Amino acid sequence: MIRVRVPATSANLGPGFDAIGVALSIFNEVWVEESDKKLEIEIFGEGTDKISKDENNLVYRSFCKVFERVNKSPKGIRLVLKNEIPLSRGLGSSSAAIVAGLVAGNAYLGFPLNSEELLRMAVEIEGHPDNVAPALFGGVTICTQTPKLRCAKLPVPDLDVVLAVPDFEVKTADARKILPKEVPFEDAKANIANVAFLITALCTKRYELLEIGMQDRLHQPYRSRLVPGFYEVLESARLSGALGVALSGSGPTMIALTKSPQAVAKAMEETFKEHGVNVKTLITRPQEKGALELVDVE
Ligand code: HSE
Repeated sequence: MIRVRVPATSANLGPGFDAIGVALSIFNEVWVEESDKKLEIEIFGEGTDKISKDENNLVYRSFCKVFERVNKSPKGIRLVLKNEIPLSRGLGSSSAAIVAGLVAGNAYLGFPLNSEELLRMAVEIEGHPDNVAPALFGGVTICTQTPKLRCAKLPVPDLDVVLAVPDFEVKTADARKILPKEVPFEDAKANIANVAFLITALCTKRYELLEIGMQDRLHQPYRSRLVPGFYEVLESARLSGALGVALSGSGPTMIALTKSPQAVAKAMEETFKEHGVNVKTLITRPQEKGALELVDVE
């Protein structure tokens, strides 16, 4: 029996579009064991009615990729998924499924693949690295694919992370379609400085720098249109004690880093409500360990 826990992730952290992500203390859990049937899948929690329970299941497909990679094929498998991560909200639910499948498959086969190879496969399936990397490694990660895939870990902030999760979905594929092919030079220039502030804030614990270090001009101006009240929520979170606020992944969730999580959560919820959006607020922490360290074999 294999058991893997995978953290939720917030990608595009501040100005780190397609590059920086953070793992959070919300988890999907997967159990894998041999079965007499070819495939049995049971799902509990988030997405129970939406996630496929056949060969199309993303955890199972990713599990099988490890077998393909070492020229094997799985026999009968029983998967039990216990999901806490909300679907299509910008919290890395698909990356969690991919990483769970890859890490479980690798453990099942006696760990034939190293972490670099698992990251490469996860990015290939997901298409971008900023959710799968923190899901695998935990903490805050920075990745590039240009010219080749590289990943490094950054210090984890000693702050609470408030998530305001709207009650509607945004599909990443749709949220990518609305991005422009080119951005104004001034916006690119601003993002370079913002990323430098973000990294400085994390490395020196000067969290007041997050006010600039969480600002973005590459994707948020376009995607904020999908989230009613986006800029008002951002401002109310800031005024109630958020050090930095941004869209989480491709949205619609908004993420705030803070030392006063209750006040920030309340402000975000009320301001969203004024704009006709019901949200669930979650108070989480950055999660230091990723799926690679959260796997047990019994
Ligand atoms: N970097 C990805 C995007 C994250 O913004 O499309 C999606 O969660």
